[in-house]
Amino acid sequence: MDGKKVLLIIAGGIAAFKALDVIRRLRERGVSVTPVLTKSAKEFVTPLSVSALSAAKVYSDLFDLTDEAEMGHIELSRSADLVCVVPATADLMAKMAHGLADDLASTLLLATDTPVMIAPAMNVRMWDHPATQRNLATLVGDGVTVVGPVEGPMACGEFGPGRMSDVADIVEAIAAHFADGPLAGKSVLVTSGPTHEPIDPVRYIANRSSGAQGTALAVALRDLGADVHFVTGPADVPPPPGVKVYPVQTAQEMLDQVQDLLPVDAAVCAAAVADWRVVGASDEKIKKDGDGTLPTLNFAENPDILATISQGKKRPSLVVGFAAETEKVIEHATAKRARKGCDWIVANDVSPETGIMGGDRNTVTVIDAKGAEAWDDMPKADVARRLAARIADALG
Ligand code: C5P
Repeated sequence: MDGKKVLLIIAGGIAAFKALDVIRRLRERGVSVTPVLTKSAKEFVTPLSVSALSAAKVYSDLFDLTDEAEMGHIELSRSADLVCVVPATADLMAKMAHGLADDLASTLLLATDTPVMIAPAMNVRMWDHPATQRNLATLVGDGVTVVGPVEGPMACGEFGPGRMSDVADIVEAIAAHFADGPLAGKSVLVTSGPTHEPIDPVRYIANRSSGAQGTALAVALRDLGADVHFVTGPADVPPPPGVKVYPVQTAQEMLDQVQDLLPVDAAVCAAAVADWRVVGASDEKIKKDGDGTLPTLNFAENPDILATISQGKKRPSLVVGFAAETEKVIEHATAKRARKGCDWIVANDVSPETGIMGGDRNTVTVIDAKGAEAWDDMPKADVARRLAARIADALG
């Protein structure tokens, strides 16, 4: 990212002090940073320290710029290769989602024509609030890249999602944005994790998928420069920075989200989608009657996302599926490739003794039209890198 320009908007939250470290690390990697402070950010970090670290003028007042003598706000908003908001408060996210422009930061965000990345940070209840979640969905829909937040202890004493991503992850996401690899300009959809199929509001049917392989793939594709759309069920592994994240719960939600994202250049279905859902899931918690009557669950088949993508009108030029088998791996996976209509199937043996499900390593066979190619046992991150390189080759 040497030589790139970042307009760094610092909003007023306790995590603002971490923005200083972001500036330092970006500059170490040759990025020039133009800082903008909101009025409340100045309560947390001083313009002097921001200016000293960035070796640049700090902008904060809209009306300083309106005489256009030095640099107007339109010019400032377009002077960078990327606009980053670190931290992005609930208030600034709400302004962005609604197109408000009542101070310099929000005006720049409305006026800019460059990509925008935000690193939200706020109290867990503010993050979980439906208003913030609605604003988040709007911003993602507008093409804003969202880094974090992560789960952890917070300055306010509570615990949960809302804590700003680590500085290293934010810098990595910025680096990924500028990555100029063989997949630059290509959009790749990745499904990952398990799905949860509700029985009632407190119970669900799930599987043991950790989301590790799908997440590693998203990272590897991102590192080759792809614009990654990551549709994830409730996984153990947090989604990676530098990709667009779409959290879902059920197979039907995953399919709806995936269809919304088409067309893309390639789709990789690494999710362990539940094959069945419970018909007529109860809106109320199912009670134990006391007379020994046991509930009966009726199942319906879930939509097959991989087959729907592969056979649909907006089919990507490359569709990759996974086949987790416990016996006759190659035979079953080869049949699956034909049945679903995808281009490649990455097959693996998930018998408990292999330790693959939930583990760090994987032994896969890639099956395509030409036949089966067995790969050695290797860490899931290496499987992901090799597969991402193969995808880059195929997309040319
Ligand atoms: O049929 P099976 O579940 O073994 O197929 C595995 C492959 O199909 C994986 O790529 C998985 O992501 C995908 N799949 C899907 N939708 C389903 C079931 C599986 O996309 N309902």
